[in-house]
Amino acid sequence: MGITVKDNLFYISSKDSCLILENRRGDLLLKHFGKKIDSYHFSNTVFERDHAFSGNPTSEIRTYSYDTQRQVVGSYGFGDFRHPSIRVQHQNNELTQFKLVDFDIIDGIVEAQGLPSPHSGENAETLALRLEDSVAKLTLKLYYTAFEGSSTITTFAILNNHSDNEVVIHRLLSAMLDLPARDYDVLTLQGAYAREKTVRRQKLQQGTFSISSNRGASGHGQTPAIILTEHQATEGFGETLALQLLYSGNFQAFTQENQLNEVRLGIGINDDNFAWRLEKGETFVTPVAMMTYSDQGLTGLTEESQCFIKNHIISKNYSHKERPILINNWEATYFDFDKKKLVELAEEASQLGIELFVLDDGWFGNRFDDNRALGDWTVNEEKLSGPLSELINEVHSKGMQFGLWVEPEMISEDSDLYRLHPDWAIQAPERSHTYSRNQLMLNLANPQVVAYLKQTFHDLLTKNDIDYIKWDYNRNMTNVGNGDTYLETQMQSHAYMLGFYELVAYLTSQHPDVLFESCSGGGGRNDLGVMCYFPQVWASDNTDAIARLPIQYGSSYLYPTISMGAHVSAAPNHQMGRITPIETRGHVAMMGNLGYELDLTQLTKEEKSLVSDQVALYKKIRPLVQFGKQYRLINPEQGSNETALQFVYNNQTVVTYVRIQSTIETIETTLKLKGLEEEALYQLEGTNLVYSGAELMYAGLTLDMPNGDYLSRQFYFVKQS
Ligand code: DGJ
Repeated sequence: MGITVKDNLFYISSKDSCLILENRRGDLLLKHFGKKIDSYHFSNTVFERDHAFSGNPTSEIRTYSYDTQRQVVGSYGFGDFRHPSIRVQHQNNELTQFKLVDFDIIDGIVEAQGLPSPHSGENAETLALRLEDSVAKLTLKLYYTAFEGSSTITTFAILNNHSDNEVVIHRLLSAMLDLPARDYDVLTLQGAYAREKTVRRQKLQQGTFSISSNRGASGHGQTPAIILTEHQATEGFGETLALQLLYSGNFQAFTQENQLNEVRLGIGINDDNFAWRLEKGETFVTPVAMMTYSDQGLTGLTEESQCFIKNHIISKNYSHKERPILINNWEATYFDFDKKKLVELAEEASQLGIELFVLDDGWFGNRFDDNRALGDWTVNEEKLSGPLSELINEVHSKGMQFGLWVEPEMISEDSDLYRLHPDWAIQAPERSHTYSRNQLMLNLANPQVVAYLKQTFHDLLTKNDIDYIKWDYNRNMTNVGNGDTYLETQMQSHAYMLGFYELVAYLTSQHPDVLFESCSGGGGRNDLGVMCYFPQVWASDNTDAIARLPIQYGSSYLYPTISMGAHVSAAPNHQMGRITPIETRGHVAMMGNLGYELDLTQLTKEEKSLVSDQVALYKKIRPLVQFGKQYRLINPEQGSNETALQFVYNNQTVVTYVRIQSTIETIETTLKLKGLEEEALYQLEGTNLVYSGAELMYAGLTLDMPNGDYLSRQFYFVKQS
């Protein structure tokens, strides 16, 4: 593991993967990204043919072209006709030709200043490559970090302008990979509001496939990640890799198959509406990207990505700490609550063993509906019949933690904050506002706004004994245009992100014992940039158990379960109108960080008893779900009527099976479990039934399902000692 330099080759070696780069007369060429190689001798070198119409950077070698070689930097203008990784306007053009000048090997991680960065790099090593364009007078530094025990390599870039003139960056990707011609599939996590992160898989064709966001947030419709697999890859077989971005704003990710069927992959900030001015001496830092590889199919990729996120992205305080089972009052009351109602709900929850009470929207200012008061973060003591601290004490006295909803980045036109600082809202001069949920966004590119938010929320958390914060964000960015110049305006969406990260880095470091859960109308900002600060994300506003199956499944491809909030809600469900048995609602939510979001006081005695059993069982299986290895046994993505998911941890395993509709064909389903010890005996909890690991894996577990729709089963096995 680590960085090795042999002659003109750089090896960036992780646990099972490596990146090999060649320094050919200053040009950096990508020789390999994939399964680890310790000794490389150019076996896969691109044949240097006299490719017509591919430019040659030197007249002496007619066979050498940037277009036919796999590049590390996709420069613009010297014969590489693929999508560039860098476009910088200097003088009257955007031409760049970066040559390697020197390099450094650094112990540990180098942080991307002001941006989300991985942590815990005690046993990591970083290669810093310094390249220069001597005409444009630009320096490009590329950083590659290999982490012990992980098959993920992280990378980012810093551009420095040491010319005497201003330059403008139009594009600077965080990561680019050129890969050999092969039959590939590309997988992305896509969807929309209330159906986030559904897996889309397609065969790569010549041309460009891209996903992007220009919403000022990663968005419900796409995730800043792109997975490439060999076409035959399945859950358990084949080579797979993923590029992921630690960024929550406008991003792009693409694959480009060129005329030679070679493939370029890229990920970084979106070019659309992006232009960044770099004055003499200034630098620009890109977000960090993760490059993860596995030759163990999609399950292997999941394991690698989830482990890296648990060990290096989610804060150390929370990545290996069990998450509390919560009750949230949103779908129980919406805005219609008073203190009595909240206390009743908390009391009922504590009786059932629930550990955290979360007070959602509507506790502050004049916030009786979603048309007003965002920005007025003073407690409505009339509605709460006293100060917030009294409610918190009451919840704590029941042995529960207390959590609170906030939406700091927003401002309502009908708010005292707007009346005082109308200019703090993002807006373009002489244009009318664009509303979304009738609210506006604060301009976090303005340091005054960031300072105000730091103070306001630091005070809220200092004065009140709050254990958990749900940080919401319920609209996307529009009307970006109040810079003094065109360039200032174009710089705003990334400048907003820098302000956002400054704010959340401050609050989370000042209050390390508060568990923050990110939300954006569900999963509208469910990305690794956010996860560097907020260990948990509310995956979707769609709380219907059946609709949530593909959402949770998609999330599992790259993100660890411990990052995902999942709630049992009322029947009929408020989004879908579907009536699903409470057992199934419980089983589905138990595949994430379990919570409840319904009026528990309205449940029947039998339902309360079932909830109490669910809570008790979840406390036992919680380490499996939150820390275990995950196996997707039946995938709900491909129109399947069934879903099955298994977690394995510490000699235990739990399997959850859900069948959507009762059909004549699926009388019996047999699940072949994974990841068990062949010789060991596993006892099915709550019974005397004992099975060997081998029979559960190779003969399988046959389910005796009754007729009926939306039914589920959960099996919890413990290895006999
Ligand atoms: C949108 C969130 O996704 C919901 O869970 C809830 O918190 C509402 N906002 C509150 O306004």
